[in-house]
Amino acid sequence: MHCVRNVTEDLYWVGANDHRLALFENIHPIPRGVSYNAYLLLDQETVLFDTVDWSACRQLLENMEYLLQGRPLDWLVINHMEPDHGASIEEILLRWPKVKIISTEKSFMLMRQFGFQVDGHELVEVKEGDTHTFGTHTVTFVAAPMVHWPEAMVTFDVTNGVLFSADAFGSFIALDGKLFADEVDFDRDWIDEARRYLTNIVGKYGPHIQLLLKKAGTILDQIKYICPLHGPVWRKDFMYFIDKYDKWSRYEPEVKGVMIAYASMYGNTEAAAQALASKLCEKGVTDVALYDVSNTHVSYLIAEAFKYSHIVLASVTYNLGIYPVMKSFLEDMKALNLQNRTFALIENGSWACKSGDLMQKFIDEEMKNMTVLNERISMASSLGADKAAELEALADGIIDSLKGE
Ligand code: FEO
Repeated sequence: MHCVRNVTEDLYWVGANDHRLALFENIHPIPRGVSYNAYLLLDQETVLFDTVDWSACRQLLENMEYLLQGRPLDWLVINHMEPDHGASIEEILLRWPKVKIISTEKSFMLMRQFGFQVDGHELVEVKEGDTHTFGTHTVTFVAAPMVHWPEAMVTFDVTNGVLFSADAFGSFIALDGKLFADEVDFDRDWIDEARRYLTNIVGKYGPHIQLLLKKAGTILDQIKYICPLHGPVWRKDFMYFIDKYDKWSRYEPEVKGVMIAYASMYGNTEAAAQALASKLCEKGVTDVALYDVSNTHVSYLIAEAFKYSHIVLASVTYNLGIYPVMKSFLEDMKALNLQNRTFALIENGSWACKSGDLMQKFIDEEMKNMTVLNERISMASSLGADKAAELEALADGIIDSLKGE
């Protein structure tokens, strides 16, 4: 059965929702699913903007057959070749062998690398600023390298103001009937998953997102719709989401508050983390989020690290090193280029306490523009009553720093 929605009078969402995939990119949990968005324009010529993951190909085909009603597909515009969008290209070519593909040079290279039989079809290579007219609609192509792969571009329909933004402005969570961001309570129900999507998938490429935002800024008054490859279409309140993207890609915190991530083997480091959380709240800082790194997927930790201004890491010492899951969190923050945060440290070790110095060294030497507060708690096995003053000092140090920013 087809499942389509109008974006505009002659532009349709023809994508699909996926609740079966457990791990996006086989690494990030998506308990609320994901959508693969593709869009079909019925102009004098017909144009498909991107395809879908292979698992959703059948739905895409049914949607297209329903809307085309026997018309040929004339054009296929590929903004992003990653297989969650490009995997169905070859099936499109088999069904509509005369379709002409518009994409970038690198994208065609990737199609061949992935083994797609595109040669023999008409391939139109475009670059920044090129335009194409499909009838009444004229589009212009804008390079978007590393948002999120090097071949990526976005396409702007100058006729109706639709920006096909590829991975930019995307989100986890299946649409399940909704299409537009204003059909959901985005700030309540979607923002956390949008943040987790962006920061984990494209977080490393903040400067490239900034470049794209600058380009979008020059045509902001002309943009009427933002059509990403995942998540809802935006047709109002663009600045809400653009501002989030701006902060995330500049590695600026959204919230002055405290994320406490703890690694605890027998509950003692956890108890210290809880004691600090209570102390902070008692002193009036209630935007505190506490996570056990051992049972929280690191993609959630990354999203929270991008959200909060202050991050407390509390870790046991393990094999004379940082507890492996905490080390992995640190490595991921580095890999995703997180910057401009203030850290505080709690270390634990029953006979050779090393984790504090090692976390400090990692933050100082491996990460950019980070501050580590001096007030560290060092504990031997458990946080005794003799550490009350240190706990107080750590809480005060964090609060002073929050006030100082
Ligand atoms: Fe949703 Fe980079 O692909």
